[in-house]
Amino acid sequence: MDLKSIENIVSLCKRRGFIFQSSEIYGGLGSTWDYGPYGVEMKQKIKDFWWHDVVTSRENVVGMDAAILMHPKTWEASGHVSNFHDPLVDCKNCKARYRADHVDLNKPCERCGKKDWTEPRQFNLMFKTAIGPVEDSGEITYLRPETAQGIFVNFMNVQGTSRQKLPFGIAQLGKAFRNEITTGNFLFRTREFEQMELEFFIHPGENEKWLDYWCEERLNWFKKLGINPEKLRLRPHDKDELAHYSTACFDVEYEFPFGWSELEGIADRGTFDLDQHNEYSGKKQQYFDPQTNERIIPAVVESSAGVDRAFLTCLVDAYCEEEVRDEKRIVLKLDPKIAPVTCAVFPLVKKDGLPEIAQKIVEDIRTKYSAYFDQGGSIGRRYRRQDEAGTPYGVTVDHQTTEDGTVTLRDRDTMDQVRISTDNILSELQSRIQ
Ligand code: GAP
Repeated sequence: MDLKSIENIVSLCKRRGFIFQSSEIYGGLGSTWDYGPYGVEMKQKIKDFWWHDVVTSRENVVGMDAAILMHPKTWEASGHVSNFHDPLVDCKNCKARYRADHVDLNKPCERCGKKDWTEPRQFNLMFKTAIGPVEDSGEITYLRPETAQGIFVNFMNVQGTSRQKLPFGIAQLGKAFRNEITTGNFLFRTREFEQMELEFFIHPGENEKWLDYWCEERLNWFKKLGINPEKLRLRPHDKDELAHYSTACFDVEYEFPFGWSELEGIADRGTFDLDQHNEYSGKKQQYFDPQTNERIIPAVVESSAGVDRAFLTCLVDAYCEEEVRDEKRIVLKLDPKIAPVTCAVFPLVKKDGLPEIAQKIVEDIRTKYSAYFDQGGSIGRRYRRQDEAGTPYGVTVDHQTTEDGTVTLRDRDTMDQVRISTDNILSELQSRIQ
């Protein structure tokens, strides 16, 4: 069995409180997942790391947060009403439903073995919803299928107020919804997910330069997230794969147990979106170039990543099963900056003042990092629990602590332990976490 099989990871996620099936007590809802206490911590750290890398650390990128519900004309202008389709086929015998481009229609249905397909038909992936109290008379709009349009329709507002000059970016992080025909592989393809998107506005003609720039930046971001670089690659799209709005696109891909798959798309969207909103809204979407004294419609290079896919990638990449002293050890070798708990603190025994010292250490660590106090069970079991949760460091308070003020600091990956002064715990953690 592949050690990194997704089933092992799903089961660890449930066991340790990373991810639960949505509405589990009612039998669950297909392909929707809830983040538990450890999951939400780790997801937040991934989002914070993206926000810092793409927005806060750059002078020429600003952030925003648009509403999920938008004027329905947005989606006509963006091309999603007419183009955001997947081809769908049904097996007439067992009613299984597939994306027509994911099955060989010359072969029988893999579920029932019969070959009796419907004609492929186009299926729009947007979730429709009605605004207003009476469903029939309400105005129809959609749950946004990408966060990008919230940025495009606010281009004039943001540029005008932030006084950014080309080239500059507007970034946004938030939920998107797609009524996917086929879902699966745990968090990889779901109907509700989060995106981290950057629309980088540039002078038309500089598209290639900025596409190259963002491809490199974004690939590096995944490496800095601690993901094995050998399992990451950039793949250019073939012409027939391109979305309706883009003329060139690269995917950052990861080699999952189920094959190389997309984590993020970096696309040359040209002036498509601002042109369309210009036309559909009747409001000029322009930029006054102080160098040429001309009004132009900027071109756009987009970086669009999925939070949940980045999260799944971190888990898959970090998951290890090892043999330690004839016992199986499951360990998540997560990068310390995204681990839900940075340091666990264990009093060796529940008496002699050790728990009180440990609690005080937890409080100190919490001024900078996340910490967890655990006094239940043997020390070996406590280490194993934290190994599975991906906690990179463990501090153990023992009787020597009461004599000389030292503790042991254990490294999750090497399992090496060093004795350090209680006063140095924070600085030691700091020096180990980049
Ligand atoms: N604005 C461009 C855009 O939305 P996309 O390639 O359709 O481009 C970008 O989506 C990213 O969003 C993907 O690379 C993936 O990480 C994430 N994503 C898209 N559909 C998803 C789904 N059904 N479930 C989870 N993540 C998804």
